[in-house]
Amino acid sequence: MTDLPPPAVRPARPYFSSGPCAKPPGYSPGKLALASLGRSHRAKIGKARLAHCIDLTREVLQLPATHRIGIVPGSDTGAYEMAMWTMLGARPVTACAWESFGEGWVTDAVKQLRLDPTILRADYGHLPDLGAIDWGHDVLFTWNGTTSGVRVPNADFIPAGRAGLSFADATSAVFAYDIDWAKIDVATFSWQKVLGGEGGHGVLILGPRAVERLESHTPAWPLPKVFRLMAKGKLAEGIFKGETINTPSMLAVEDAIWALEWAQSLGGLAGLKARSDANAAALDAIVAARPWLGHLAADPATRSTTSVCLTVAGADEAFIKAFAALLEKEGAAYDIAGYRDAPPGLRIWCGATVDTADIVALGPWLDWAYASVKG
Ligand SMILES: Cc1ncc(COP(=O)(O)O)c(C=O)c1O
Repeated sequence: MTDLPPPAVRPARPYFSSGPCAKPPGYSPGKLALASLGRSHRAKIGKARLAHCIDLTREVLQLPATHRIGIVPGSDTGAYEMAMWTMLGARPVTACAWESFGEGWVTDAVKQLRLDPTILRADYGHLPDLGAIDWGHDVLFTWNGTTSGVRVPNADFIPAGRAGLSFADATSAVFAYDIDWAKIDVATFSWQKVLGGEGGHGVLILGPRAVERLESHTPAWPLPKVFRLMAKGKLAEGIFKGETINTPSMLAVEDAIWALEWAQSLGGLAGLKARSDANAAALDAIVAARPWLGHLAADPATRSTTSVCLTVAGADEAFIKAFAALLEKEGAAYDIAGYRDAPPGLRIWCGATVDTADIVALGPWLDWAYASVKG
């Protein structure tokens, strides 16, 4: 490494992690409403705050009345596995994977549920041939592959008249992309991504066909209590009004409410998308100006505007580790090394809670770190 003088201006908020992601600008824990803390989550106030969180989610996501929203345990993983465990087994399954999280759902389907799914895979940087999906199957996919920065461009690959159910792990997609909800039977996410909220809880969105499945299909395997969405042969509707299966963190709920109200103050989904798009465009300009940086996502139409994954010419794992550590030590960028299972590279979160000026300020720091580590 060489001793080059560092750039003069640091990003004001150097939080570029792809999860948990940067808190919304202006956030401080002291601003949260705390009246529901230290009370039963089943008291009037707790239930009202959980219901408020669900209502705000519907409003900001522009989710149609056809779809239900539940707050469930176990972050995005809990929500997605709850959907898999409660609804799969009724039809053949296709599992799509183009990065590590999609691979995780393949593993669940193959090794845990033993469903012998059809597997549609692509390497990091690419999408599989989504046109090859048999929609007589239930289909598992990740809308935005957080570890490769490859997303589905839209829901056009999902037919309106499908027989199977579509299961979207949408954790780093919701609040950043338009989602055609009529095409989505199940979607899940965690507050810790685009909203800059906390982990711990997942959000489970169910369309009418998913509810039909729940009410007509009994899984062949046992379900732990935290996965049970049914009561007396019917959907447990209370879950979708804020009567959670077990005890939630009301602090995490209040934190999510704060983020959702911040989103509303920006004009809701359009405001969030505009911020994320501006961040991704600013990063793209940085990449375009540097021959040693590139996008891992080969096709620009499939390029994430939240978890942007970059290639670095000649970099191996050790180079990336030193690069990211140097920027962290300088307080210029936190958590920008690519995911451990991805090819060595950088991953820079461009979701709505990041400020565009901070992405712009990052450019010279990337140059500095590259020259320093190379030297
Ligand atoms: C696409 C995707 N799926 C699932 C997860 C797991 O989320 P959680 O840790 O909130 O369960 C993540 C987290 O980064 C993710 O990006």
